[in-house]
Amino acid sequence: MRLDEEHEHEILSRRHEEARTELAEGHGALNWVLVQRSDPEGQIYAGCDTYRIEALIKRKSKESIEDTFCYGITSVYTPVQHRKGYGRHLLRVLHYILARPRLPAFPLEWGDPPALAPKQRELVPWASFSFVCSDIGSEYYSKCTIGDSSEGFAVNPLEQNELHWKILPPEDEEGSFCRHGPGDDHREDDWLVLYDKDLPRIKSILREGQKRNLENRDTVDHSVFALDPEAGGVCDFVAQGGETGVREPWPILDKVEPRGVQRGDTVVMFARYDYQVPKDTLIISFVQKLTSDDLPSLLRVLDRLGTEVGLRNGWIWGLDPTSELVRSWEALPGRNTKVGLRQGNDAHLYGIARYEDQGGILVDQQMWIWL
Ligand SMILES: CC(C)(COP(=O)(O)OP(=O)(O)OC[C@H]1O[C@@H](n2cnc3c(N)ncnc32)[C@H](O)[C@@H]1OP(=O)(O)O)[C@@H](O)C(=O)NCCC(=O)NCCS
Repeated sequence: MRLDEEHEHEILSRRHEEARTELAEGHGALNWVLVQRSDPEGQIYAGCDTYRIEALIKRKSKESIEDTFCYGITSVYTPVQHRKGYGRHLLRVLHYILARPRLPAFPLEWGDPPALAPKQRELVPWASFSFVCSDIGSEYYSKCTIGDSSEGFAVNPLEQNELHWKILPPEDEEGSFCRHGPGDDHREDDWLVLYDKDLPRIKSILREGQKRNLENRDTVDHSVFALDPEAGGVCDFVAQGGETGVREPWPILDKVEPRGVQRGDTVVMFARYDYQVPKDTLIISFVQKLTSDDLPSLLRVLDRLGTEVGLRNGWIWGLDPTSELVRSWEALPGRNTKVGLRQGNDAHLYGIARYEDQGGILVDQQMWIWL
């Protein structure tokens, strides 16, 4: 997230909301500042926030999937009068706090390496990787090096996929989300609407899917990793983050905010987001096992849901642009589907700092991990 004066109010209110989410529990969210060693209570030269998040990893040349940690880094900021590389230095030093001490040597000219007291270390377990979502392009974060010269947060331009499509008014005015009996959930076209109460069940389905995703990857040359959808707070985070700000409640769903839809093994999580996303846009934060066969009925359901609350566009990241799913999406008439790569400033580019091996790959870069 980018800090700027124009959005100060939204940022502060979102930060306030975030402090109450599960993600921030147990000091999961921390604020870091760079100060002079000789004057720790003095001026702040730069700051950032980290979110401690559980993750899954299949290490290089290993077969098993193991639990690990990662950190999402956000709100990187240098006070205007100190913009001389202090923000970059904070992130360079931070690698040596977040990662197990087997990184390249801490450069002598940076002084003594940072150290945490054992009690602090309990709150900041070693991580396999950390990531940023850059709104200032890819170069700045890649130069937040690990040691003198190992690339910091690497943005792979080809992985910043996005797809936009049009939400259309439903053709069938009479259609509705039917319930099969009193107390039953809403359904349409066999899609079950998901609410907060469904999240624990859905999260464990998503975790299993994420593990399968890793199992199927080759680790001969490098590790592969993903955030754990079951980890405290991550999956709810996009949804809860999206609640900052005033919205029309969803009338057809008893005014309760839906979190996604499910049909069989296929899960599609979505949210209305905050100031970083246009007000008329529905974001799909996470899909699992979505195929081109699911697409027509899924889009019908999203049309009906979205139109009720003034949504006109949909936005999704992280789909393989060569997949049959994406090609079918592009071929749908009237949807004005646009497939491309996020580029430049304000493009929310995922940059990954790899602490296990330099070739490690974050296999899932959908929108749900955008902080
Ligand atoms: C981005 C920021 C933290 C950098 O502070 P810093 O590390 O002290 O860096 P400096 O301002 O001295 O600039 C250092 C380098 O970063 C680059 N940089 C600074 N701001 C940049 C921006 N908005 N976009 C792209 N590059 C930028 C500079 O060009 C410079 O590059 P160089 O070393 O290759 O010459 C600071 O400009 C800031 O606080 N900006 C507002 C908040 C923000 O945009 N945060 C990032 C959110 S993703």
